Amino acid sequence: MEFDADPWEPATVAVVGAGYVGLTTSACLASMGHDVTCADIDPEKIERLRNGEIPIVEAGLGEVVVHAVAADRLRFVVGAAAAVADADIVFLCVPTPQDEDGSADLSYIEAAARQIGPVLRPGAIVVNKSTVPVGSARVVERVLQRSDVSVVSNPEFLREGTAVFDFLHPDRVVIGGDDEAAARAVANLYSPLNTEILITDAASAETIKYAANGFLAMKISFINAVAAMCEAVGADVADVIEGIGSDHRIGRAFLRPGPGWGGSCFPKDSRALVSIAADHGYDFSMMRGVIEVNDEQRLRMVAKIARAAGRDMALDLPLDGVAIGALGLTFKAGTDDLRESPSLAILDHMAAAGAEITAYDPTTVGVLDRVQTDRLGTLRLANDALGAANGADVVVILTEWPEFAELDLDAVARVMRGCSLVDTRNMLDPGSVRSAGLDYDGVGRR
Ligand SMILES: NC(=O)c1ccc[n+]([C@@H]2O[C@H](COP(=O)([O-])OP(=O)(O)OC[C@H]3O[C@@H](n4cnc5c(N)ncnc54)[C@H](O)[C@@H]3O)[C@@H](O)[C@H]2O)c1
Repeated sequence: MEFDADPWEPATVAVVGAGYVGLTTSACLASMGHDVTCADIDPEKIERLRNGEIPIVEAGLGEVVVHAVAADRLRFVVGAAAAVADADIVFLCVPTPQDEDGSADLSYIEAAARQIGPVLRPGAIVVNKSTVPVGSARVVERVLQRSDVSVVSNPEFLREGTAVFDFLHPDRVVIGGDDEAAARAVANLYSPLNTEILITDAASAETIKYAANGFLAMKISFINAVAAMCEAVGADVADVIEGIGSDHRIGRAFLRPGPGWGGSCFPKDSRALVSIAADHGYDFSMMRGVIEVNDEQRLRMVAKIARAAGRDMALDLPLDGVAIGALGLTFKAGTDDLRESPSLAILDHMAAAGAEITAYDPTTVGVLDRVQTDRLGTLRLANDALGAANGADVVVILTEWPEFAELDLDAVARVMRGCSLVDTRNMLDPGSVRSAGLDYDGVGRR
């Protein structure tokens, strides 16, 4: 349904959850003129926010928060119940992690709904901004036990690293609800953004979010599979991307080969999509294939690194005694988020195969001296890229931090024990790496 905004009026808003989505939503809605109270269950996080500290790495977020607090349009409280009593509209921005069977775990959503149910003012609107399976608006309604409160779905499409920009310049805003007046009230919040607002039923809005993430994951898996084929047939993936990406039906966006997708959304949302489909009698085999290709991609990177070290993954402990200098730990550049990072998954495999690993990531310097991983236990961290390369047999680029494109390759070659560089992000010019006396291997490059 197309949406014509009502005359602009600021609203009183509560946001439950001060993570990547909740804090960005709070700060951006406040910057648009709304009055926002943001709650988190974690008192330490709220204390830091009250002291003007931003607990996550996110470009521009600090400035928007400071400005909104100074204008008295944003405040932070501990606990959902403390935020919602005066709110016209309450956003739920709490985690929906993966459950053991691949489905989305709704326990945080249900807990938040239980906490706010008795406190909401009559006529309030509760908005699911968390990524939730089809039918979750009904689940929240049941838990709230408030016939005078409406529930709508408003999935979030922001990307970590550009969250503030994405929130304020969205490609579209999607609002789904069976109560049209409530959906319109939520749509009105966004009217200063002058963006396309799509109003649907709740099930369609919930499906749109999973379908969007599933499609994006599919594009990355597709180009990773094409890169594997390029290596097999002697083609160059960069030329193939240029050739297919110039077709406007395909486009270049998200066609970048790498170590596989990860992060806080694609892995859990792609599995949830398979699980939601299965619950409703549809075998989403294509999505299962997308996930399988991604799992294979990580193992392909491990095999590449072993080959660069002159080892064979078929042996027991094939990387015993091999020193790896790992560049990048976060799942992508521009964020400090380590959730389901392909980098950590690859390092876990290499550690299990006997490798000794020293890693560097710009977001851990001065904050952490060790990172906990699944199998590796604790991972040794260096303070810079040269520190990670020092004494390494193989240096591997795992996250596309811009500073890795500027590496002093002669210095890297001088401090290494071996002479192999594996570039899982295709960031470096192979000729420059070879000129520094290092062997180069990328992904799908000739
Ligand atoms: N991170 C992204 O890029 C992104 C993008 C789009 C959608 N999403 C979705 O948004 C949701 C939130 O993701 P996130 O990355 O912001 O998570 P997050 O883990 O960064 O933040 C969630 C916050 O909620 C708080 N919390 C949990 N229960 C609470 C309660 N009862 N009351 C108050 N606070 C509570 C946690 O302490 C935490 O600070 C998820 O469903 C996710 O799939 C995330």
